[in-house]
Amino acid sequence: FEMKKEFGNLVLCGFMGSGKTTVGKLIAQKAGRTFVDMDQYIEQKQGVRISELFASQGEAAFRKLEREAARELAQKSGLIIATGGGTLMDPENTAELKSSGIIVLLDASLEKIQKRLRGDQTRPLLSGPEHDENLRRLYLERSDRYRLSADRTVPADAPAVEVAEQILQALK
Ligand code: S3P
Repeated sequence: FEMKKEFGNLVLCGFMGSGKTTVGKLIAQKAGRTFVDMDQYIEQKQGVRISELFASQGEAAFRKLEREAARELAQKSGLIIATGGGTLMDPENTAELKSSGIIVLLDASLEKIQKRLRGDQTRPLLSGPEHDENLRRLYLERSDRYRLSADRTVPADAPAVEVAEQILQALK
């Protein structure tokens, strides 16, 4: 398994529920690389859940920690990184991560994501009765920027094993 930049990171981006974490773990296993999930990285460092962070300190505080995480991980190499759905909405994060390797977009349809995230309680941006409306609005707001940020785009409605395989093929 080789990548454009020999020791670069593989950075997975896409909307919440696009499969970044699941697919990232599979790729890391197959390629014998280390997997890092940015949300988990932040949770471990802070010793607190993302949902609690949002609730107690607000989204801005979370975004600050996310920028720190992006900067730190961009200094490393050879990692498979699953970003959070909002990470690449900040152009500085995108620039940092892009310079550290290759960005691949997991492009899942709104319909698929709606199905996967139905009843999800773990994502603060989708909590409450407006869940479906918020999801739809964010999805539409963000699609263009994901596309512009990514070096490669792979369809991501298929099962995670297939998506992982496709990415590995695309990077050969
Ligand atoms: C967010 C996505 C989440 C997490 C946070 C904010 C977003 O990550 O970072 O809840 O802005 O889309 P996942 O994409 O892993 O759900």
